[in-house]
Amino acid sequence: MTTNGENSREDEIKADKDIDRQTESEQVQEKQQQVHKVSIRNLEAWFGSKQALKNINLDVEQKTATSVIGPSGCGKTTLIKCLNRMHEMTPGAKAKGQVIIDGMDIYARNIDPVIIKRRIGMVFQKPNPFPTMSIYDNVVAGLKLNGIRDKRLMDEIVKDSLEGAALWDEVKNELGKPGMGLSGGQQQRLCIARALAMQPEVLLMDEPTSALDPVASSKIEDLVHDLKKRYTVIIVTHNMQQAARVSDHTAFMYLGELIEYSPTKKMFENPEKELTERYISGKFG
Ligand SMILES: Nc1ncnc2c1ncn2[C@@H]1O[C@H](COP(=O)(O)OP(=O)(O)OP(=O)(O)O)[C@@H](O)[C@H]1O
Ligand SMILES: [Mg+2]
Repeated sequence: MTTNGENSREDEIKADKDIDRQTESEQVQEKQQQVHKVSIRNLEAWFGSKQALKNINLDVEQKTATSVIGPSGCGKTTLIKCLNRMHEMTPGAKAKGQVIIDGMDIYARNIDPVIIKRRIGMVFQKPNPFPTMSIYDNVVAGLKLNGIRDKRLMDEIVKDSLEGAALWDEVKNELGKPGMGLSGGQQQRLCIARALAMQPEVLLMDEPTSALDPVASSKIEDLVHDLKKRYTVIIVTHNMQQAARVSDHTAFMYLGELIEYSPTKKMFENPEKELTERYISGKFG
C-alpha cells in the first residue's frame, strides 16, 4: 500500500513528464509553423452572393515555388488576391477564414491591409508599369509612398531589385527612360523589380507570362528559379509545362475548391484524384 505522500510524488513526476511532452509537441508545432510561410485555413470568398472559393486549406513552405492551376473561372486569381487582401478591394467582395503568414493572421482585426500589401507583393497578368514614370521611378514608387527619400539608398535598392528581376544589365544605362518604352517581357520584369523593391516576404504572380512570347516567358521562368531562393513564390499559370518546370508544389483547383495539392512531380506523374488526372491529361478545361 502506498502512502498519500508517495502518491503525490508520483503525481508530481507524472505531471512534470506531461509538461515536458507538451513543451516538446509545442516545439514541433512551432517548427512546422516556421517552415510553413503561408497557411490557409477554411478560406472562403464571395463576389456578392456568388461563392468563388470554398473551404480552402493549404500550407506553403517557405522559399519554394507553388503553382496554382485549374480551368478558367475556378478561382485561381481570387485565391491569390485573398493572400494579400486585394480581393476585398472589389466592391461587394468578401473573404472569410484565416490566412496565416509567418504566424500572423492577415485577416485579424488589428491588421492594417496596407501593410499586408507591402509585405506580400503581387505581379499581374498584364505588365502594368506606371505609365508616366521612368524605369527608376517605377521601381522606387512604393518606397517613396512609404516616405523613403534617401537617394543613395534608393539607388542601391533600384540596382538590387533590377538585378533580382534579371533586368539590370538591359536597362542600367537608361534608368531615366519611360518604363512604358520597354518590351512586354522587360515591362513584366520591371513590375517584378517594383515588387522586389518592397522586400516582400511572399511574391504572388498571376499568369505573369501569358502576355509574353516564348523567349520572354522563359526568362521569367528562369527568374522564378532564382527568386524562390530568397522568396516564397506562388504563381498562377494556365501552362502545365510551366507549372511542371518552375514549381515544387502544385495546387489544382476546380469550381472554387482545392481538389489536390501535391509535390509537382507527383501531381503530373501520379495524381491522387481522378479529376486532376483528367485535367492534366487535357480531357477538360
Ligand atoms: N469582379 C467580379 N465580380 C463577380 N464575379 C467575379 C469577379 N471576378 C471573378 N468573379 C467570379 O469568380 C469566379 C473565380 O474567378 P477567378 O478570376 O478567380 O478565376 P480564375 O481561375 O482566375 O480564372 P482565369 O483562369 O480565367 O483567370 C468566377 O466564377 C468568376 O466569374
Ligand atoms: Mg485569373
